[in-house]
Amino acid sequence: MKYFSLFLLCPLLVFSQTTRNDTTYRQRYRPQFHFSPKKNWTNDPNGLVYFAGEYHLFYQYNPFGDRWGHMTWGHAVSKDLVKWTELPPAIAEENGVMIFSGCVVIDSLNSSGFGKNAMVAIYTGHEEGKRQTQHLAYSTDRGRTWTKYAQNPILNYTPEQRDFRDPNVIWYAPLQVWLMTVVLPNEQKALFYHSKNLTNWTQAGEFQMKNTALGIWECPALIDFDTPEGKKWLLLISVGKGAVAGGSGMQYFVGDFDGKNFIPQDTQTRWVDYGKDFYAAIPFNNSSQKIILGWMNNWQYANNIPTSPFRGQMTLPREISLVKKEGKFSLKQQPLKNHYEGALPTFFGNAKTLNNSFKSTKSTDNFGLNIKAEARDFLVKLKATDKSYTLVGYNAAQKELYIDRTQSGLTGFSKDFPARTTAPLLPDANGLIHLRILVDRCSIEVFGNDGEATMTNLIFPLDNSGGIRFEGDGLKEVQWYKPQNAW
Ligand code: FRU
Repeated sequence: MKYFSLFLLCPLLVFSQTTRNDTTYRQRYRPQFHFSPKKNWTNDPNGLVYFAGEYHLFYQYNPFGDRWGHMTWGHAVSKDLVKWTELPPAIAEENGVMIFSGCVVIDSLNSSGFGKNAMVAIYTGHEEGKRQTQHLAYSTDRGRTWTKYAQNPILNYTPEQRDFRDPNVIWYAPLQVWLMTVVLPNEQKALFYHSKNLTNWTQAGEFQMKNTALGIWECPALIDFDTPEGKKWLLLISVGKGAVAGGSGMQYFVGDFDGKNFIPQDTQTRWVDYGKDFYAAIPFNNSSQKIILGWMNNWQYANNIPTSPFRGQMTLPREISLVKKEGKFSLKQQPLKNHYEGALPTFFGNAKTLNNSFKSTKSTDNFGLNIKAEARDFLVKLKATDKSYTLVGYNAAQKELYIDRTQSGLTGFSKDFPARTTAPLLPDANGLIHLRILVDRCSIEVFGNDGEATMTNLIFPLDNSGGIRFEGDGLKEVQWYKPQNAW
């Protein structure tokens, strides 16, 4: 009996050992078409920039474990935003200063003196229990090695300010200055600073929108758009709690900006994504396209999600634009064509015929679905087995898109995880609802009606190979496809 139980235990021990050291991308919940580090913890994307044929993704990284700590910038590069290659960590914690979130700019005119086309990283130096200040590091070898600026910090708010972080820098052409947006999280305030050389900064203005229902401000970013009404500016802000789906999330403002003052079109709260897991997104600098990418997680349970040997992943990159509806600008977001182009088999029919077409398709553990339907109640059950499934659907009476992950599998690791999230979504001019659904091993992203509403949620199914089942009225057309792997 004794030997028998040992014999049973052994493979378990061997298994947990191998999963910890397993740096392949085969683990049960390993994202197949989203970036995740081979092992250890990640949160926010940092320093997103396009340079010399590569997209750089730096990210908050703990080199020593799979929970938050020892923040260092991890690093990965991609030629097409689909395939990612993980490189050694770029900027490491040192002398009690953690490397918090920030940005990278390309200094094409050598305004800083670090070299023509130097990559310049500006980030928050975090000294636990002491202060947060802004620091600089630069690279002249395409981001492979980094030198911390000898005179760091380059900017403080007051010498002992505890919370002052997440600088995001752009070139502001009208005034020929570098412009930094950075937040005082507890005041829910963004500050604007100017610099000619990236090392000396002077405050030029500020923007505050107090809202006691929402938490601290983090990770701001300002992005300009040419519209028929001239330049409009998008201000992205991540909020620590009280977001639309509960916990952390992202809001945005659209308005006018003169380099110093940001005047929003109104005081309404607008959400970037209506799911629980979209945070800290910032744009790629130095790119002709406007693309943002975020961290797919929620601070309510980020440290406890059941993945190993990594914890944390990025969302898909999204191309963003502004549209004007009923007199107000709002944000539209689309996945990149790279993530869904290729042969798309199309199936036509109502739920019954569709279920017949999909009967033998035990879905692979990652796939995309494009659904076209009349604006009536319908849903699709994803990763459906006897024991678990996730619903994505449309509620016609409420005019809402939803994802219900209450039965999605492992949900008990946090009371805040089981959820049904909803987003307003009106039918298009032809009375139709279009959903682009991207299903990975542990996530679902939905883009409704060409990206007028988006919803991102993690899921941890009990059986990843479950099928696809349709229910309800009005379904017309479904396309199924297999996105390319990220690794
Ligand atoms: C946002 C954030 C940032 C900070 C970083 C620390 O998720 O809290 O404000 O710079 O994470 O890892």
